Amino acid sequence: MQEQIKNIQTLEELQALYSSVFGKNGSMTAKLREMKNLDNDARAALNAENVMLRELFKTRQAEIENAVILAGLEKQKLDPTLNPMPENRGTLHPLTKSLCEISAILESFGYEMRTGPEIEDDWHNFTALNTPAHHPARDMQDTFFLENGNVLRTQTSAIQIRAMEADGVPIKMFGIGVTYRKEMDATHTPMFHQVEGLYIDKKITMSDLIGDIRAFLKRFFELDDVELRIRPSYFPFTDPSIEVDIKWHGGKLDGKWLEIMGAGMVHPNVLRNCGINPDEYQGFAFGFGLDRLAMLKYGLDDLREFYNGDVRWLRNSGF
Ligand code: PHE
Repeated sequence: MQEQIKNIQTLEELQALYSSVFGKNGSMTAKLREMKNLDNDARAALNAENVMLRELFKTRQAEIENAVILAGLEKQKLDPTLNPMPENRGTLHPLTKSLCEISAILESFGYEMRTGPEIEDDWHNFTALNTPAHHPARDMQDTFFLENGNVLRTQTSAIQIRAMEADGVPIKMFGIGVTYRKEMDATHTPMFHQVEGLYIDKKITMSDLIGDIRAFLKRFFELDDVELRIRPSYFPFTDPSIEVDIKWHGGKLDGKWLEIMGAGMVHPNVLRNCGINPDEYQGFAFGFGLDRLAMLKYGLDDLREFYNGDVRWLRNSGF
């Protein structure tokens, strides 16, 4: 009996055995009932057996209960040698990265960063930029007009007006910001980013402009040299106006000339509109699309990818 009790593994089995010994029809219960017929020695022996068996059951019950608790704890055990959960680190959006890179390059050239509002008035977005009402050049940009006559800024050129009005000349500034136009295809989104540079002083020439553009593109694309093509163009706020193409090497666009920037010598009317005497001061301005430049640098085909907000794309795009 003692061995049997010690070998029991579950509380149910132990309970069953206990009943078969101490229950109403249990073997011990029967013996105890006959106790009065026993002599003293036998009585004492039976008593001892009774006590011993009860003790054994009690001990085994405690042991089994303990084992159950231990098994439970074992399951919850923390194993500090396991690999940690993979870390979910955020990264900068490729456009934000490009924006930081471009700012750093222009700042290293001595351009100071300026900002302006995204909802612009007609004066800063058009009129002061030598594009008065009914000027045909207003049609060059598909503008979002607000009911009160303001517009969603179509070009960061508005920032150069604000900077000249606030600080006068000489001035060497750049602006980076969101701009809006009603257009949407693989290379245009209704909201995009532009970068604008402006340098006005007493002896600034077109060759300063081209020198800075070349130096900037070399740094941004991390190239030893860049092949540029300067074409005459038209913007109301610059004269002469140019467009800059870069000869692209590598990828699908290998060997192609790509238009990347508009620029020119700031029109005397623009300077006058900002209270600056064009006979004393002159300089250049340039402007380009940040999204397009980032797209080229990172080899993307579709500009819209930047704005889809697809985390898998951002994670796998290799930025
Ligand atoms: N603002 C012009 C555009 O959006 C670009 C530009 C900027 C051209 C500065 C010349 C000088 O197309």
